[in-house]
Amino acid sequence: MSVTSSSLFVFTFSLFVFFILNETSSCLAMLSSKTTRIPRQLRVDYYAKSCPQVEQLVGSVTSQQFKQSPVSGPATIRLLFHDCFVEGCDASILIASKPGSKELAEKDAEDNKDLRMEGFETIRKAKEVVEKKCPTVVSCADILAIAARDFVHLAGGPYYQVKKGRWDGKISMASRVGSNIPRANSTVDELIKIFNSKGLTIQDMVALSGAHTIGFAHCKNFLTRLYNYRGKGQPDPDMNPKLLKALRMYCPNFGGNTDIVAPFDATTPFIFDHAYYGNLQNKMGLLASDQALALDPRTKSLVQDFAKDKQKFFQAFASAMDKMSLVKVVRGKKHGERRRDCSMHM
Ligand code: HEM
Repeated sequence: MSVTSSSLFVFTFSLFVFFILNETSSCLAMLSSKTTRIPRQLRVDYYAKSCPQVEQLVGSVTSQQFKQSPVSGPATIRLLFHDCFVEGCDASILIASKPGSKELAEKDAEDNKDLRMEGFETIRKAKEVVEKKCPTVVSCADILAIAARDFVHLAGGPYYQVKKGRWDGKISMASRVGSNIPRANSTVDELIKIFNSKGLTIQDMVALSGAHTIGFAHCKNFLTRLYNYRGKGQPDPDMNPKLLKALRMYCPNFGGNTDIVAPFDATTPFIFDHAYYGNLQNKMGLLASDQALALDPRTKSLVQDFAKDKQKFFQAFASAMDKMSLVKVVRGKKHGERRRDCSMHM
């Protein structure tokens, strides 16, 4: 597939494809908490009267972005994840920090700095198109959920219906991000804890991690695995030596280009398939947090199942995305708003 992004240079090294991105903005069983309550008012046909063509309008933008700038797909799917895990799926991630304000908005938090601008751009464009036909009717949070679904499907993944009726949130604070977003070196214990706190099961977590079948990660997110894993001066023994060699070529221990990224799935980085799980079984996981899923007794069998059976993965992924897109949804004027410009509170 050709990548038409003016700021994207492509290098090919044997099987592995590396990209340098010149970015303007850096990319249960245990149903415990209150976040699991599914708001009754959310419905697939929520806009049937007020904006019946909303899905087509968003679809016109996502299909164009997919052609013109394929990185918009992974960027938007990750954007939804980072939105839903902080303050719920309320488009709080899209708010721009106020110049001069003491508290930065979510998007400027350290853990969100490498969210790619193509995701934000996709939602901005989709909102513009929707606003022309249905002014101040459709929330940015619903547009983000629809766009992420579209990209999963466009890349070859499953199609699922998106329930709508979210309102946009009134709070967006960088300080709320850190503890809610898992990191590349999070342990399986930590991952389970964060996902459980959002009402998501271990199966949901392993299925959602399958989103790493597309997209890219910066060297800094796996550098210690290449040179000094757990401070022992050695590479991670759970990384395939071929992958290690290839990654070391582009990600030197010191002084490397900070814009270089490597694909999660070296063979099909733009195709939504189940190759991610097979890669994990071959010790080809990019992040320590991904590779750990194939090793931990609580997650290993799920990795095996999804590696074997693409349909099983697709079903679990679609169901988990539906659940994730309903985390702590905001409803009504007291806590919510319907923004005209997704980057600014009303
Ligand atoms: C399980 C815990 C997770 C961890 C620790 C994690 C961590 C990361 C990291 C470190 C990156 C690379 C960022 C960069 O260097 O630019 C990334 C990228 C990505 N993540 Fe995750 N992630 C997790 C779960 C998820 C989930 C649940 C989804 C969506 C359902 C998701 C979707 C993505 C996508 C699509 C990308 C590629 C983004 C791009 O190419 O622009 N991740 N993730």
